[in-house]
Amino acid sequence: MNIRSVRLVYFSPTGGTRRVLEQIAAGTGVERVTRLDLTLPGAPNDFGEAGEDELLLLGAPVYAGRVPEIAMARFAGLRSLGGPAVLVAVYGNRAIEDALQELSALARAAGCVPVAGASFVAEHSYSTGKGPIAAGRPDREDLERAREFGREIAGYLGGVESAREIPAPELPGNPELKGRPVHPALVPTTDPGLCIACGACEQLCPTGSITTREISETNEAGCILCAACVKGCAFGARALQGPFIKKIREWLGENAAGRREPEIFMHGPG
Ligand SMILES: Cc1cc2nc3c(=O)[nH]c(=O)nc-3n(C[C@H](O)[C@H](O)[C@H](O)COP(=O)(O)O)c2cc1C
Ligand code: SF4
Ligand code: SF4
Repeated sequence: MNIRSVRLVYFSPTGGTRRVLEQIAAGTGVERVTRLDLTLPGAPNDFGEAGEDELLLLGAPVYAGRVPEIAMARFAGLRSLGGPAVLVAVYGNRAIEDALQELSALARAAGCVPVAGASFVAEHSYSTGKGPIAAGRPDREDLERAREFGREIAGYLGGVESAREIPAPELPGNPELKGRPVHPALVPTTDPGLCIACGACEQLCPTGSITTREISETNEAGCILCAACVKGCAFGARALQGPFIKKIREWLGENAAGRREPEIFMHGPG
């Protein structure tokens, strides 16, 4: 089949998912690439219908082994007329658990044909200078693997008449999704001595939970603890701290320190 265009559809508070998808798209060699960035509150909810010859790259970070609830809600408007979809779960070097199963179910419900899945590692949202977790990922090697994956997908699709001929990829995880954990009421703090009330964190917040007054203030009810405001503050004024986050960081330091590599799930041409 001839892929007329590639459409990136993603939720990516700290940018790891977006960077991986951009490289997969580049690897396909398809010139027409469009983007549906569903990260911010003003994201569109009516996407129109993707054609049969439009390749969807559907990407999300892994939160507690699943796709973040807010991302699932924003992806809900996705529709395709039977075109191919590639599912990409981006995680912080712990595990993806059921995230690809969840993306696959979503793609099917939207009318897409899932043709491949992949997991890529990106710096963990809770990584810090003192306690790095997958710091600097995706790195050069990861991004080269992403481009190669794009080339593989293009070759794969080029060898069939329609995406419907392609057998479903065998994805890791359990299609019977486990429940989402409830985290304690907690938000990032703002250091009044460092915050200059520039408003950058407010612009980056996927849930619209920040208001900039004398300093940035956070509404606890909406915060998903994504750390976009922490990583995006050029003045180091925002931080995620407290016993809950400390425990997660310690656990990750002990259990998710060894480098994990991207994994591809597709049958491959021939
Ligand atoms: C609330 C929350 C839960 C997370 N859960 C996991 C997890 O279960 N496994 C994992 O490896 N990484 C986990 N991460 C790390 C993110 O998957 C990782 O940082 C990812 O790169 C974020 O994607 P983004 O840069 O596109 O926002 C979690 C991050 C957050 C904020
Ligand atoms: S980005 Fe940093 S300095 Fe700017 S308002 Fe937010 S916390 Fe304050
Ligand atoms: S306030 Fe919460 S939801 Fe908003 S960017 Fe910061 S961590 Fe993410």
